[in-house]
Amino acid sequence: MSSNSVCVFVENLAKSYKQHAVLCDIDLSLNRGEVFGLLGPSGSGKTTLVRHITGLETPDAGEVIISGKKVPDLSLLSEIGYMAQSDALYEDLTAKENLEFFASLYGLGKKQQTARIQEVMKIVRLSGDLNKPVKNFSGGMKRRLSLAIALLHEPRLLILDEPTVGIDPVLRKSIWEVFSQLQESGVTILVTTHVMDEAAKCDRLGLIQNGGLIAVGTPDDLKSRTKTHSIEDVFLTFGGA
Ligand SMILES: Nc1ncnc2c1ncn2[C@@H]1O[C@H](COP(=O)(O)OP(=O)(O)O)[C@@H](O)[C@H]1O
Ligand SMILES: [Mg+2]
Repeated sequence: MSSNSVCVFVENLAKSYKQHAVLCDIDLSLNRGEVFGLLGPSGSGKTTLVRHITGLETPDAGEVIISGKKVPDLSLLSEIGYMAQSDALYEDLTAKENLEFFASLYGLGKKQQTARIQEVMKIVRLSGDLNKPVKNFSGGMKRRLSLAIALLHEPRLLILDEPTVGIDPVLRKSIWEVFSQLQESGVTILVTTHVMDEAAKCDRLGLIQNGGLIAVGTPDDLKSRTKTHSIEDVFLTFGGA
């Protein structure tokens, strides 16, 4: 693999909160255009790791390099679309007003905004809800609106923290179809999940437990290494349960 095809490098990353080690010596590289799944139980450190990759947290040791630049770097903002685990939406505003607010932050012009807002809402299948206040949205609708916001500026790297929580299976499937389309256009996607069937759809997986990356590989590779037939069994085998 040429270094050109690697777009994210995480090297020796470590972080503790009040003496409690949350990330231990994480090494990870993401290839351009892959869907990489970070799989681990609640509290294992997934959110902390992706917050470090986006530059929202500063590590105690190690570094993150994206497109050759050390994180945090303002010039990377246009390259990264980040969807946090908790929706950061203005409840009293409509979906459209929320999108306009974030589109302005990204520096999209008015004309461009209108077109792009239509596009992203179509992608997440919320076109009919554009003028509704977000406070009337279900949890799943809020997740989809957050995804639409993360897509607004056409980022080359999408970092999605449990994007499908609260979303029914049919829509979940359609969101994964969106990921495939984005991937075909060269977008790299880092997604955290604790849902096994989602993990199976990733090109590669990183299993995280107690802040350590315990295994990395394609779902098939991990299954054959553990001589198991499901990602759940893979996890239990590597996790020593
Ligand atoms: N800001 C913080 N201060 C103290 N502890 C934190 C902080 N953020 C995360 N943690 C702890 O780090 C661990 C990993 O959390 P998190 O990254 O949210 O896990 P996950 O996303 O896998 O559920 C947990 O034990 C959590 O309590
Ligand atoms: Mg989390």
